[in-house]
Amino acid sequence: MTELRCNDPIIEVHDLYVYFYTYAGVVRAIEGVSFCIERGETYCLVGETGCGKSVTSRALTKLILPPGRIEKGKVYYYPEPSRRIDILALSEEEVKKIRGNEITYIFQDPGTALDPLYTIGYQIAETMLVHGRIRRIKEGIPHAVELLRKTLIPDPERRVKAYPHELSGGMKQRAVIATALANNPKLVIADEPTTALDATVQAQIMELLRKLKKEEGLTILLITHNMGLVAEMCDRVAVMYAGTIVEEAPTEELFKNPLHPYTRLLLRAVPNPLRRMDKLESIPGTVPNLIYPPPGCRFHPRCPHAMDICREERPPEIWVNESHRVACHLYTGKASLPG
Ligand SMILES: Nc1ncnc2c1ncn2[C@@H]1O[C@H](COP(=O)(O)OP(=O)(O)OP(=O)(O)O)[C@@H](O)[C@H]1O
Ligand SMILES: [Mg+2]
Repeated sequence: MTELRCNDPIIEVHDLYVYFYTYAGVVRAIEGVSFCIERGETYCLVGETGCGKSVTSRALTKLILPPGRIEKGKVYYYPEPSRRIDILALSEEEVKKIRGNEITYIFQDPGTALDPLYTIGYQIAETMLVHGRIRRIKEGIPHAVELLRKTLIPDPERRVKAYPHELSGGMKQRAVIATALANNPKLVIADEPTTALDATVQAQIMELLRKLKKEEGLTILLITHNMGLVAEMCDRVAVMYAGTIVEEAPTEELFKNPLHPYTRLLLRAVPNPLRRMDKLESIPGTVPNLIYPPPGCRFHPRCPHAMDICREERPPEIWVNESHRVACHLYTGKASLPG
């Protein structure tokens, strides 16, 4: 089992497996994922579409709906350093007290996260009501105004009475962020929070998350397929491929010294302003169908360095120094390192 190395973890995930039982077969979406998030950091999950970022983040609060099932593993949540909660052992009723309260989500599309029939203020106050912070919606409105002000929405006293359709995409996402902050969460999970927005608004929302993290002492789990965002936002990053973590390191270290062939290819696919490129380099091949995942290392069919052992054995996770780990046979001492 992978050793986890966090001094003051807020979350620990040990050997997580999540499967989806579909008519076409069993989708082995997550197999053996382990990581911890340090209190106060921004931790990133990065990888191509379908590699399991969202499923992993949803499993942190047991938010896996049928036909999905958490097969195996542990998720520990530490509200304080000395208090450990075994999330997967909680009933839905118990976990609901944590989800949307201490651990909150910001999803990709602010349009669907908000209910078109209620005002922004009502929706923020409702989150507080559900978690027993207020007794009547009306009591929550002043706090909703404050939260909208924190997210830098202009004229929050007016916007609190607005319906979602009256706001721009960027403002809607700010309202979603305000809702996610309503109950003073400890961990905010932002799953591709800016993908649906245009580039300028994207940058503003990221700036806002950075500011809120500092002011509110939040821990953030940021999910993205954008290596540029990782570089700007994250303290540490885990690279996922086909339902596994292939590499994890502090961000700077990962960019300077990427070890896994997949990470190297992902970094090559980042546009480099110093090099003139007509199109982005992409990684040959696609993420495999996870009903029939490749045996051994799941990346071997696309890997330029694949060896016999890669087709046969799943590579163990190796710590190459105190904070950098990789799951690749090139580093198990059974083969020489690539140049
Ligand atoms: N409800 C479901 N039913 C069947 N398979 C599912 C379901 N939800 C997710 N999966 C599968 O689980 C795997 C991981 O999906 P996940 O949504 O976590 O990917 P992701 O990394 O978040 O991708 P993206 O970048 O596109 O959001 C995929 O193979 C996906 O097809
Ligand atoms: Mg996703």
